[in-house]
Amino acid sequence: MKLILPYNALTRRGAKSKQKLKTNNYINMAEKNFKRVLITSALPYANGPVHIGHLAGVYVPSDIYARYQRLRGRDVISVCGSDEHGVPITIKARKEGITPQDVVDRYHAIIKDAFQRLGMSFDIYSRTSSPTHRTTASDFFRKLYDEGKFIEQTSEQYYDEEAKTFLADRYIVGTCPRCQSEGAYGDQCEKCGSTLSPDELINPTSKLSGSTPVKKPTKHWYLPLDQYDAFLREWILEGHKEWKSNVYGQCKSWLDTGLQPRAVSRDLDWGIPVPVEGEEGKVLYVWFDAPIGYISATKDLTPDWEKYWKDDQTKMVHFIGKDNIVFHCIVFPSMLKAHGDYILPENVPANEFLNLEGDKISTSKNWAVWLHEYLDDFPGKEDVLRYVLCANAPETKDNDFTWKDFQARNNNELVAILGNFVNRALVLTKKYYGGAVPECGELTDYDRDTIAEMAGIKASLESNIENYRFREALKDAMSVARIGNKYLADTEPWKVVKSDPERVKTILNIALQITANITIAIEPFMPFSAEKILKMLAIEKLGWDNLGSMSLIAAGHQIGEPSLLFEKIEDDVIEKQLKRLEEIKKANAAAAAAEHVTEQKEECSFDDFQKMDIRVSTILEAEKIAKTKKLLKLTVDTGIDKRTIVSGIAEHFKPEELVGKQVLVLVNLAPREMKGVTSQGMILMAEDASGKLELLSPENKTNNGAIVG
Ligand code: MF3
Ligand code: ZN
Repeated sequence: MKLILPYNALTRRGAKSKQKLKTNNYINMAEKNFKRVLITSALPYANGPVHIGHLAGVYVPSDIYARYQRLRGRDVISVCGSDEHGVPITIKARKEGITPQDVVDRYHAIIKDAFQRLGMSFDIYSRTSSPTHRTTASDFFRKLYDEGKFIEQTSEQYYDEEAKTFLADRYIVGTCPRCQSEGAYGDQCEKCGSTLSPDELINPTSKLSGSTPVKKPTKHWYLPLDQYDAFLREWILEGHKEWKSNVYGQCKSWLDTGLQPRAVSRDLDWGIPVPVEGEEGKVLYVWFDAPIGYISATKDLTPDWEKYWKDDQTKMVHFIGKDNIVFHCIVFPSMLKAHGDYILPENVPANEFLNLEGDKISTSKNWAVWLHEYLDDFPGKEDVLRYVLCANAPETKDNDFTWKDFQARNNNELVAILGNFVNRALVLTKKYYGGAVPECGELTDYDRDTIAEMAGIKASLESNIENYRFREALKDAMSVARIGNKYLADTEPWKVVKSDPERVKTILNIALQITANITIAIEPFMPFSAEKILKMLAIEKLGWDNLGSMSLIAAGHQIGEPSLLFEKIEDDVIEKQLKRLEEIKKANAAAAAAEHVTEQKEECSFDDFQKMDIRVSTILEAEKIAKTKKLLKLTVDTGIDKRTIVSGIAEHFKPEELVGKQVLVLVNLAPREMKGVTSQGMILMAEDASGKLELLSPENKTNNGAIVG
């Protein structure tokens, strides 16, 4: 659809804004002049799909930033790609009986497609298995190697003699030295969260063969981070005090703890081979090669890649999650510094974590909302997810995603404010003027106030986005719609039309100008909706500089067909999602219970067992013992007699649900006194891994006193 502009003034303005989109104007940010912006987003591991935690932490903010820069007409590129090396990928492949290449091919495709469907506007989505990357990472390592920037060191590492391979930390399991739980990994105990080294594990075993690994010497290369301490202190602690406090704080804490040399190679058969003759079987450590992926992706994007990486008038910004801070602020910058040819990041606006319904998102526990599934379940609602994740982004602290909040934000904000305003403005224009934009007549004071309020938004929005405060920025963008909504509610054109039709022309002209402004303000956040509104208005995309202007659409211009921007989300839709999560919880609990089986006790003789006299008994009475939390006083018929048993099960069963039940009772247990009551026996029960108790009853009613054995 073409925009018809009867006024020269407007044509000129439109033309000017278009030209602006192309010019390479200097960007005045944080006292420095930058000519261009290079945006990187953490390369997602290609061992699973992307979920809302990734989106809220990294990709939604990075896309907002990239779209904003483009709207401003700056020279900007946004690069990303799949991180296809590392041990978890090899573990996944082994589990499924496929090759690591199969794993990364599968997830690279899923992730890339899902990103595209969400409207992620990467200029390139590359992958670290690409030939360009292999060469780039290999050359990078080789340069540092040749220039003596690494320390070469031989150390003792765990080796699996059956599988004939050194074991990565994740391939060694054992007992956690901190919490004593089984199944802790060589790098971390998932039960208590401690960071471990393989040497600390008690009874280490190899996940590959199940055998006990032995120590064997192996050579590796280390980047001596301690030698970069002074550089990092000056660059970050002195030079980047403006970084987000969570990022700055983590850097400071790493530096204050003292940096150690870090191994940049691994004994593994999946990755980029260490480019040193005679060192077969060793690959670059995934955290060495992955960030170089940003460079390779830029190379794959444009032959002109060097200007983005080698000119200090490029502003490089890394979008990452908090678990990546050390790699992007300490390790990668040290690598770049050691290399010497490349610029350093100007900012690393890392976010904290997003939880899901109060629990930590976990890929292995399937506790997540997966992007590709969301897109299938909610077609046409890409912007709703982008909106909710930005509004809730964990910018300064961990945050929670709940489906109820998702529903509320959609219904109360997107539908009730943004959608409602745009719809009213367009429908009334259709109704009163057949869709031809009315003239703006004389302004009232209220009109002028509204226009002034509109004009103030641009500066605030800019400052919030430039300073990575995307939640605040989104509020600014939404305030354009809020102002519009309030304007129509206050001016009530549907009433005034009867008494003063001339006045209504002005009101709707202003409402339509506000609508046009919305397309600019929301584009970085909700590109699909911006596009839809542009279509409904039948105008071309507007550049950033137009934001705040009240003459974006000319009188007489014919608008397109209004349609609903957002739809209400009903309860049943949300319930379905909650139900899905509930089922995952149940499945996880069952899996955990099945996995956690206490070891067999020491042997007991047949005679020992024979000594125990277990009888089928019926519970006749049950009552709580006063002033205790756990104790129940039970009267049971053992067939031999009626007796009293005290049992510590009051937190698990209500007295009334026990009466009449047949159970198994160890009747010849020595009597014990508890809270003044003598207990003559013990009720047998099963306890699962979560501590839940089950009564043991004969499957069919049996006579009391029947012998169990
Ligand atoms: N794959 C890593 C993660 O998901 C991020 C890698 S970022 C890069 O945590 F810089 F190394 F590419
Ligand atoms: Zn532990």
